[in-house]
This record gives sequence, structure tokens and C-alpha cells, in this order.
Amino acid sequence: MRDYKDLKEEELLKLILGGNLPEHIAIIMDGNGRWAKQRRLPRISGHKVGMDSVRDIITLSREIGIKVLTLYAFSQENWKRPQSEVRALMGLLQEYLKKEIKTMIEKGIQFRAIGEIEKLPVKTQEVINNAIENTSKNGDLILNVALSYGGRSEIIEAIKNILRDIEKGDISADNLNESLFEDYLDTSGLPDPDLLIRTSGEKRISNFLLWQSAYTEFYFTDTLWPDFRKKEMLLAILNYQQRERRFGLTREQIKRGLYAL
Ligand code: IPE
Ligand code: IPE
Ligand code: MG
Repeated sequence: MRDYKDLKEEELLKLILGGNLPEHIAIIMDGNGRWAKQRRLPRISGHKVGMDSVRDIITLSREIGIKVLTLYAFSQENWKRPQSEVRALMGLLQEYLKKEIKTMIEKGIQFRAIGEIEKLPVKTQEVINNAIENTSKNGDLILNVALSYGGRSEIIEAIKNILRDIEKGDISADNLNESLFEDYLDTSGLPDPDLLIRTSGEKRISNFLLWQSAYTEFYFTDTLWPDFRKKEMLLAILNYQQRERRFGLTREQIKRGLYAL
């Protein structure tokens, strides 16, 4: 494969716009702590600079016409981190949303959140709900942020709600299928991610979008999140565009285009 790393951002952009864009990109933004450690800085400085990457990636996604961007910002397991780090992360999120809400409204970005939002500090919930309400009519890019999110508990919650609805008589067990099940997930109404990116060299899913990533393409990079900027994102998309998604079919079937995927 050609070494696209040597190309300029504009050249990469041109190449990408000539191909099939992923509709939904999900990102596990990892490596902030290590970025800071390499510079002998406190972990929180990594999170702070990571917010600049968040801004860059959202801007680029909107500019090139990505429909949905899901960012894993805080997992259920992250609550076990030192209290000071958790508090700082919540503070950064609040600050970011307050600062960016105007731009999100102007640029047609629809803000959404998945995960246990009710477990977040009340102040954080307020800015989140405010951002959701004020951008609900936007449709250029859906920015979906995963907060206190865990894929397994999302599935358990869906099952509980399905059982309740069966008990109430609203649905019947016989009608339960994949599509109905998806209506009960936090991501209801959104397409599955086409591309999932994880930064920092870790190659695991860490309880992210377990149901939704059944046929997602994975892209792993050693780049730490605070260094993951536009060019890195373009390289990830270009890499995705070189792949052949087969969904269980044979190569020949795909080539003949006999199946609508
Ligand atoms: C990702 O960076 C941000 C969150 C999980 C909130 P990390 O904080 O996990 O960074 P590393 O993995 O320790 O380098
Ligand atoms: C995954 O990163 C969660 C987020 C990026 C928010 P972690 O750093 O928490 O994941 P593990 O612990 O390395 O699997
Ligand atoms: Mg990490």
C-alpha cells in the first residue's frame, strides 16, 4: 500500500472525498495520561490538550460530511479512577460544552449523549441537557458523546425495559428481533458505526458499543489522543476506504454486486 503519511492534508482530503465516506465513526480517545507522563506533566494536562483534539476532530468530521461521530469520553469503569481526576474530567467537559455550544448551534451540530447521564454531577448534567435541547433541530453532524457508558449494562438495561414492555402488553416476545432490540439501546435511531478508531496502541474494545460494533471496521493507531489531529483522522478514513466489507459474503458475491448490503 502507498505510504499516505507523506501526503499533505489537502491531498489526503481530496483522495478521501473521492471515495465512500463512513457514515458513522466511533472513537475510543485513549492515551491522555501517557501523553502527559511523557512530558512529566500531571495526567489532567493530557486531558486538557485532548480537548483540542476533540475540537479538531469534530470540525473535520462536519466539514467532510460525516453523519455521526461517537466519542467515548468516560466509561463506567473510569469512575474507579482517583476522585481528583474524575472531578477534573467532569469540569473539562462542562467547560468545553459551555464554550462550544454557540459554535455547535451555528455549525448545525446536534449534540447527544449516551450512557448513565443521571450518574454525572448535577452541574454536568445541566450543561449536557442544555446542549441537547439547544441543538436538537440541527442535522449536519450528530455528535454523540459516551459518558459513564458501558456496553454490557446498556444491553442489560435494554432487556429490562423490553421485559417491562412485554409485561405491560406493549410488545410481545414473539415480535422481538434485532431491529426492535436496537430501539431499546441508547443509540436507537443511529446507524451502527462503520469505523471504530482507538488511539494509543491499545487493541481492545473496553466495553464500548458491544452490540453496535458487530460489523464495524477497526482502526488502531499508536498515536496518543492529544496528538490525534486532522491528518491522523484523514489517514484513518483513507485506511477504511481501502477495505472490502463483506458482511459474511464471498468476495465474488460482493464484486458482482448481487446483494444489497
Ligand atoms: C483517555 O486517556 C481518557 C479517558 C479514559 C477519560 P487515559 O486517561 O485513559 O490515558 P492513558 O491510557 O492513561 O494514557
Ligand atoms: C477507554 O479507555 C475509555 C475511554 C477512552 C473513555 P480506558 O483507558 O479507560 O481503557 P482501558 O482501561 O485501558 O481498557
Ligand atoms: Mg487509557
